[in-house]
Amino acid sequence: MERTYVMIKPDGVQRNLIGEIITRFERKGLKIVGLKMLQMDRAMAEKHYAEHTGKPFFEGLVSYITSGPVVAMVLEGKDVVATARAMNGATNPANAGPGTIRGDYAIEVGRNVIHASDSIDSANREIAIYFTENELCEYKKVL
Ligand code: CMP
Repeated sequence: MERTYVMIKPDGVQRNLIGEIITRFERKGLKIVGLKMLQMDRAMAEKHYAEHTGKPFFEGLVSYITSGPVVAMVLEGKDVVATARAMNGATNPANAGPGTIRGDYAIEVGRNVIHASDSIDSANREIAIYFTENELCEYKKVL
């Protein structure tokens, strides 16, 4: 079954949006198979955002993402990569439609509340940064 990596960023945690965001994914019917809160360090941030190394916003991104705890989760379901991206809305909240998480809760690209993997390959790479295989749960979900 397809999996994706989703992360509530430090601004989402600080603004008390953890429950609201997790509720959206649960209500949608996506299955949470991994969940933890952690504080990222610089090495972890550089690994996660390796593809953005050298970009003008990279240093700001690293300091933002390491500024406080994040909530890391793995969601499972059919087409879950695309579904989670659609629920998050566009990376720049200015372009994110109402009803999406960024459309409803964010205004700045540098403080955009949530992350979700952009492909199955990215999901596999990102999940491995945050979770060991035995931290991911297998269970039957009753709808
Ligand atoms: P995310 O989906 O986590 O993936 C890359 C992140 O880089 C993105 O969300 C934003 O938080 C950040 N980002 C992308 N473009 C910019 C930008 N132009 N300025 C600041 N941050 C950016």
